[in-house]
Amino acid sequence: MVSFYALCWVLGLGLRVWGKTIPTTKAVVLFGDSYTDQSRAHSIANGTYPGKDYQEVFPPADTAADGGVQWPWYLGLYGNYTIWNYATGGAVCSNVLTPLFVEPDVIGGQTDWFIQDHVTNNGTKDQKLDMDPEEFVVIIYIGTNDVGIHMFIDDSQSPTVSLADLADCQLTTIRNLYALGARRFIVNSLIPLQLTRLYSNSSDPTIYYPAPHDGVAWNKRMYNFVQTMNTLLRRGVAALSEEWRGSATLDVFDTYGFFEEMYNHPAKFFNGSIPANVTGHCHQCPDPNDFTQCGIGDCTLAERDSYMWWDELHPSEQTGRNLAQELFKKLTGAETQF
Ligand SMILES: *[C@@H]1O[C@H](CO)[C@@H](O)[C@H](O)[C@H]1NC(C)=O
Ligand SMILES: *[C@@H]1O[C@H](CO)[C@@H](O)[C@H](O)[C@H]1NC(C)=O
Ligand SMILES: *[C@@H]1O[C@H](CO)[C@@H](O)[C@H](O)[C@H]1NC(C)=O
Ligand SMILES: *[C@@H]1O[C@H](CO)[C@@H](O)[C@H](O)[C@H]1NC(C)=O
Ligand SMILES: *[C@@H]1O[C@H](CO)[C@@H](O)[C@H](O)[C@H]1NC(C)=O
Ligand SMILES: *[C@@H]1O[C@H](CO)[C@@H](O)[C@H](O)[C@H]1NC(C)=O
Repeated sequence: MVSFYALCWVLGLGLRVWGKTIPTTKAVVLFGDSYTDQSRAHSIANGTYPGKDYQEVFPPADTAADGGVQWPWYLGLYGNYTIWNYATGGAVCSNVLTPLFVEPDVIGGQTDWFIQDHVTNNGTKDQKLDMDPEEFVVIIYIGTNDVGIHMFIDDSQSPTVSLADLADCQLTTIRNLYALGARRFIVNSLIPLQLTRLYSNSSDPTIYYPAPHDGVAWNKRMYNFVQTMNTLLRRGVAALSEEWRGSATLDVFDTYGFFEEMYNHPAKFFNGSIPANVTGHCHQCPDPNDFTQCGIGDCTLAERDSYMWWDELHPSEQTGRNLAQELFKKLTGAETQF
């Protein structure tokens, strides 16, 4: 496959994928939450707010929410890309819409960090992006916290905020980045959150939500939220893509479908020392009311890569490697059904 693409380049034929020739990607800019963050949320909590310059991939005294190294590092490795990871654990698309933990949000604080790093003379007539728009791609991967606990799932959101607003926030962020000069975008759809322990049909307490709740209702609500968000995002991206035909490339990465694929064919994706496990999770918290006991009863390091999930909400490091591999295919124009 690779040689076919290489041949196209040599022959100067180009390759039409998102309606235009596949450009050479040198950098990836990421916006998101704990599914992507390596260390920013922790650096903020640790007093180095705003955490902008805390870009360490292997912080000496830290682990990310997947229990290890997050997928952006693997994506950088697979594609030799420079990774600008602005994702922050606990973040939402907009703190105006869903002020959960008020971490730097995708449309606000995270975009500001991008401006500080990459836009000179912001807001003036001399405004200039320091990267070639053809050589970097923006990936937006947000929504889990927006629809989750202490927000939509338990009706904690403002009475005048809807899923449509959440989807619009992602599209508006893309418009804002377009205005700054970015031209290549991928929106990662929301994952099948109904498959996580937190949003399963069990009403048993979890470390993230020890209070009583109706598991069966939550499970159905989450399915509905995620499906609806993804439909809105897909249609919004298609409309924007049409509007910007020829001047920008937009695509949805079907994270939902890819996670379903891993869930349904685990042996293809999980390679730890025990049989693949897509229903349980490695990291254990024996008492859902006591964070300090978390870690007691964890799977072993050798077993880790057998698990799809690290804990009750977060994908594992191996799931992240799989995601990075699939996104790498997307970026290089290799065949992927997602
Ligand atoms: C937190 O801050 C302390 C003191 O500045 C530093 O020694 C430590 O490495 C930091 N930890 C993390 C995870 O950033
Ligand atoms: C990786 O990327 C860097 C910076 O863009 C470049 O200098 C280097 O040649 C690349 N390495 C490979 C093996 O392509
Ligand atoms: C960039 O410029 C815009 C328009 O003047 C302004 O609203 C925004 O706050 C600036 N952002 C940063 C990070 O300086
Ligand atoms: C919960 O989901 C499991 C499968 O994940 C199913 O076997 C079970 O019947 C469901 N329970 C209820 C009460 O819906
Ligand atoms: C599982 O596969 C990944 C590549 O996807 C590899 O990096 C990792 O080391 C493997 N894990 C084990 C336990 O062999
Ligand atoms: C999956 O892992 C969980 C947590 O370790 C465990 O309780 C469960 O029995 C495992 N399921 C399978 C099918 O091995």
